[in-house]
Amino acid sequence: MKADVVVRNIGVLVTPPDVRHPLRGRAMDEVIEVHDAYLAIKDGLFLAFGEGDGNEHVEPQTRIVDAGGKLVTPGLVDSHTHVVHGGSREFEFEQKMRGVPYLDILKAGGGIHASVKMTREMSEEALYAQSKKSLNRMLAYGVTTVEGKSGYGLERDTEIKQLTVQQRLHEDHPIDIVSTFLGAHAMPKAYENDRDAFLASIVAILPEVKEKGLAEFVDVFCEDGAFTVEESRRMLETAKEHGFKLKIHADEVVALGGTPLAAELGAHSADHLMAIDEAGLEALAKHDTIANVLPSTSFNLKSNYAPVRTMIERNLAVAISSDYNPGSSPSENVQFALNLAAIHLRLSPHEILNAVTHNAAWSIDRADKVGRIAPGMQADFVIFDAPNWPYVLYRFAVNHTQDVYKHGRLVVKNQIPMWEEIDHETH
Ligand code: NIG
Ligand code: FE
Repeated sequence: MKADVVVRNIGVLVTPPDVRHPLRGRAMDEVIEVHDAYLAIKDGLFLAFGEGDGNEHVEPQTRIVDAGGKLVTPGLVDSHTHVVHGGSREFEFEQKMRGVPYLDILKAGGGIHASVKMTREMSEEALYAQSKKSLNRMLAYGVTTVEGKSGYGLERDTEIKQLTVQQRLHEDHPIDIVSTFLGAHAMPKAYENDRDAFLASIVAILPEVKEKGLAEFVDVFCEDGAFTVEESRRMLETAKEHGFKLKIHADEVVALGGTPLAAELGAHSADHLMAIDEAGLEALAKHDTIANVLPSTSFNLKSNYAPVRTMIERNLAVAISSDYNPGSSPSENVQFALNLAAIHLRLSPHEILNAVTHNAAWSIDRADKVGRIAPGMQADFVIFDAPNWPYVLYRFAVNHTQDVYKHGRLVVKNQIPMWEEIDHETH
């Protein structure tokens, strides 16, 4: 079949193997690597790839792109972010650097509560503009699919406002956004003595979220100072009854039992896991729940890193994401999370690639569409200004992206998000 676009002169094309399940344990170290490759695209989907120039897919109308001997990978999947939030929290940064713990700042009414106040006060339009700027940054780092959570409202109106902004951006922006309702992100002061009433108020939002198609997943922050395992169970079980898929913030500081709970309820992922214990490892080894680790958060909180080598030895499926949020990970740069994964998690380059593409796609239930270069998959890919994938991990804190394609369309050129201009020209 003839292609709309053929990318030629690819130095090396690297993609996860052609499998229909998450990559676990040792299998995480396997990738497909083609040197001197081409990549053909038809109707926004990958048509073919392989060695050579792909001449058999070229007709007079086919657009030829010269990759200049550089690296091509699938678009990166950032499977855990809090991209839509009001304002920022640099005023707490100094306090944090002086050693005040994250949970103490939260307890004192700062942290998530400070962002809740700013998000409640911000108009939908302002929130849209701030979030769009972040999404453009993510796109420029090579991210083509993002998971985004609510959770800076803790009441109906603001939670719906956040999710509405995500829905609009999913439609307007090249990045695909998978939405998660995180109404149980923190306990508002006013409800401290009536925790059940707060949970009931959050549960009451679920039918509207479902009906309007505003979120696909429900998440809960299971942690000391946030929600107990019993409360998390109540939240997630109810969400499941309403037809939501599940996620959990677990074992970030203390291993309370959130990870075994996630596995038991069939959650797509358990996220953070810096403090995961034996029970958590055992539960994830037996279930399909993905261990989604967030090394930028460990870096920023100056805390320990998730024991990922142990996870891989125990045959877990690992994903990596940025956790971009205004408190514990105020950076949209997922490539930096990958640098940290190489240095602090001691993951191999192949393991890292699989973790931020195929496994990340599984953790947000998009593995049938994104995360791999294979015929029929969405033509989301990145041309890196790098000779190979290990180079991207070794040269840390640098944006190695050159061009980004979404559905076969150029959306970032020389690191600049151009999609609005390109749209303008063609309409
Ligand atoms: O994933 N841990 C809970 N939620 C976020 C942080 C939110 C914030 O500090 O604003 C996280 O780290
Ligand atoms: Fe988070």
